[in-house]
Amino acid sequence: MEMAGEANIQPQTAEAPAFVTVTILNSGETCRCRTDESLIEGLRRMGKRGVPIGCRNGGCSVCRIEIVSGRYAAHRKMSREYVSDEDLAAGRVLACCVKPLSALAILAIGKMGKALAASAAGEVKATGAERP
Ligand code: FES
Repeated sequence: MEMAGEANIQPQTAEAPAFVTVTILNSGETCRCRTDESLIEGLRRMGKRGVPIGCRNGGCSVCRIEIVSGRYAAHRKMSREYVSDEDLAAGRVLACCVKPLSALAILAIGKMGKALAASAAGEVKATGAERP
């Protein structure tokens, strides 16, 4: 895993693929994300209910995730209010501030994790209501 601290911000490279697969470990769902866009844009394009779209600028923390595997680069500074050095070391970042450089496996945590869990619970409830 590539670290995303300020010192590790890396420019887009010619070798990076145009699209990568991002797996959301909470649900097993995947989405395709371009290597020149933030992870939150790929997740938003997936159309998944429960993916909170906040400021898209690193200022609200609704998009906190943990990157479990894969390489990524930060293209925007992340507020220390939301992402500490310890968080960065553990791969906890803001999805609006990082771009993927390879296939990623992520965990939605914080507000995004709660929103996805609530969305999944709603889908389960709806599915149960359809049963005779
Ligand atoms: S959407 Fe606000 S910090 Fe990412």
